Amino acid sequence: MEIVRAKDYGELSRKAANILASQIILKPESVLGLATGSSPIGLYERLVEMYRNGDLDFSKIKTANLDEYVGLDPENDQSYKYFMNINLFSKVNIDLNNVNIPDGTNKDAETECDRYETAIESLGGIDLQLLGIGNNGHIGFNEPADHFPARTHIVDLTESTIEANKRFFADVSLVPRQAYTMGIGTIMKAKKIVMVANGEKKAPIIKEAFLGKITPQVPASILQLHPDFTLVADEAALSMI
Ligand code: GLP
Repeated sequence: MEIVRAKDYGELSRKAANILASQIILKPESVLGLATGSSPIGLYERLVEMYRNGDLDFSKIKTANLDEYVGLDPENDQSYKYFMNINLFSKVNIDLNNVNIPDGTNKDAETECDRYETAIESLGGIDLQLLGIGNNGHIGFNEPADHFPARTHIVDLTESTIEANKRFFADVSLVPRQAYTMGIGTIMKAKKIVMVANGEKKAPIIKEAFLGKITPQVPASILQLHPDFTLVADEAALSMI
C-alpha cells in the first residue's frame, strides 16, 4: 500500500487526477472504475480541465461505476448516473455507449446484479478503480458485514450511511434505503486501486481501515491485501496515522 500525502483538498485532487491522467495517457482504451460522493469532485474537475487543455482524450475510455441507489431514475439529481453526467461525462469526449452504471430503476435485483457483473467481465476487468471511503469504512456501498461480498449485489444501507448521505437530499425520508454495488471481489479484481480521502472526519476510519485488522466489519480494510493500492489523502484525513 502506498500513501500519497497532500496538504489540502486542492492538492489531493491534483495528485489523484494526475494518477488517473497517466493511466488514460499510457492506455487510452483503459477501463476506469469510477466513484461518486463529495471526495472525488475536485479530481473530476481537474480531469475536465486537462481535457479542455487538450491533454486528455476520453474517446476510447470505458467506465464502470461502483454503485447506484435503487429506485432513483437517472434524471433524479441524486442518482449517481446524474452525478457522473454533471461532474464528468457531459464535459469530456467520452462515448456514452462505453459508460456503465448499475440500473437503479431495475427492480429485479438478481437480474440487474448479474447483468452488471457480466458487463464488467466483458470489458475485460477494471484497469484502475477509484474509491472514496464512507465514515464506517464502506467502499462502494459495501457496508460493514460478517463477510466480504464477492459480486455485485443489493445492499440495505446502514442508518449511519443514510445519515451521512442525507446532506445531499431535501429530506432524510428521500434517501433511498437500498443500493446496487460492485462486490468487494469485483473491486479487488481491479489491477490498480486509488482511494481519495479528505478532512478530519475521515481520520478515525482511515486509521482503523489501514492500521487495524482486516475484517468485513471495516470493508476498506481488505485493501491492505491489494497488490497495487494507493491512498491519496490530505493531512487532516491522515492526522491519526
Ligand atoms: C457514498 C458512496 C461511496 C463514497 C461515500 C463517501 O456512500 N457510495 O462510494 O465513497 O459515499 O462519500 P464522501 O466522499 O461524500 O465522503
